[in-house]
Amino acid sequence: MNQMTRKDFLNNCSLLGTAALVSPAAFASGIPWEKRGASFVPLNRKVKVGLIGCGSVSGVYLPHLAACPYAEVVSLCDIKPERAQKAAQRFEGAVWYPHIDEMLAGVPFDLLVNTTDMQEHGRLNKIAIAAGKHVWCEKPLATTYREGYKLLEMAKAKGVRIWGAPAVVNSPQFAFMAKQVNEGNLGRIAAAHGHYGHEGPNWSAFFYEKNGGSLPDLGVYNIATLTGLFGPATSVVAMTNVVTPTRQVDDKGLIQVVVEDNAQVLFEHHSGVLSHIQCGFNYFDPYGHLGTGQERPSISVYGSKGNMHMVGYDWRPSGVDMATTDNPETQRFVPDAGGYVWEEGASVICEYLSTGRAPLINAEHSLHVLEIIEAANESQRTGRRIQLNSTFSWPIVR
Ligand SMILES: NC(=O)c1ccc[n+]([C@@H]2O[C@H](COP(=O)([O-])OP(=O)(O)OC[C@H]3O[C@@H](n4cnc5c(N)ncnc54)[C@H](O)[C@@H]3O)[C@@H](O)[C@H]2O)c1
Repeated sequence: MNQMTRKDFLNNCSLLGTAALVSPAAFASGIPWEKRGASFVPLNRKVKVGLIGCGSVSGVYLPHLAACPYAEVVSLCDIKPERAQKAAQRFEGAVWYPHIDEMLAGVPFDLLVNTTDMQEHGRLNKIAIAAGKHVWCEKPLATTYREGYKLLEMAKAKGVRIWGAPAVVNSPQFAFMAKQVNEGNLGRIAAAHGHYGHEGPNWSAFFYEKNGGSLPDLGVYNIATLTGLFGPATSVVAMTNVVTPTRQVDDKGLIQVVVEDNAQVLFEHHSGVLSHIQCGFNYFDPYGHLGTGQERPSISVYGSKGNMHMVGYDWRPSGVDMATTDNPETQRFVPDAGGYVWEEGASVICEYLSTGRAPLINAEHSLHVLEIIEAANESQRTGRRIQLNSTFSWPIVR
């Protein structure tokens, strides 16, 4: 029998479609629920929201939800109850709780918005799904791909939905770049790069504890963007390490950093594109965490007939610089956010639950990103290239 080369294998895969590569442990189709014509009946009213985890990110989420015409925040919960109590003051009639069990037994709601520590996401999402709640979760959806996959299966069985941050595929800059890729305007795409880093959060220890790290907190954005642009990945190689072994944080004082705070990840997409991302909690940036005024790109794409660069961070882009063989002078496109903000995910899901308008974000994509993060850690541990199983419906933007 002739030996099949890797190139033949990839060519065959693209002919067969990505579904052919999915293992039995992964999704049957990779097609998000919203696009399977599943029998979801829109609520046709405001979605009642319960938010759990009233810390830093909730301070950005809650104003967006308060302004969302499809959302009504009715329930707030935090194991630091004074935080939940304070957050509840913003919403007339909202009730606050110190524990998820009391929250679920209390005032009824449709959607749990989970903005707790990364290590708590999977456990709390499972409890909420078991109680028949839809879930929007900050990244990551769960601690492991397997845990996330089980959540998705459980949600299907319960007739509810789950989605996870980030919302980077919603930006008009992402849409512009995806269109260039889909239309072949850059020729054959060869390579792409993404980076995101800052000096690390100083308010909570969980970022540096087991199952934390810069990959699920920061790298997750670039991985979602690059898989969003070029489709699912097949394999991962990575190196990670710890640059700052101890940290001073507000909630626990001086702590040991036990997970990576510096990561380099290389992955191959089904299409043959090679992508690379780097992230970390040791990146000095004169433009600060928000990157305001930053003119340099954080995402770069190189093809045989052109290149393009997303200006600013992919969660807060401010344009796309592009040059092609037809127009070799670099030109800036989509300088405007068009209303997109990174914290809009939960509100977009409220719009879907209320009206049935399908979101671009889907749980299968979030889980694929989670599998890449897990594979990166395994690659560092074993020194091996790690094969991936999961997939998702692509292209995201047509
Ligand atoms: N802070 C940001 O700017 C930012 C931005 C984007 C995403 N995120 C993500 O949001 C999540 C939360 O980050 P953060 O910065 O807000 O952290 P944080 O420490 O400020 O807030 C987390 C809150 O969750 C609460 N909590 C933890 N376990 C709980 C439980 N079992 N039940 C109820 N409440 C619980 C904590 O008491 C705390 O108030 C993380 O996944 C992070 O990656 C944060």
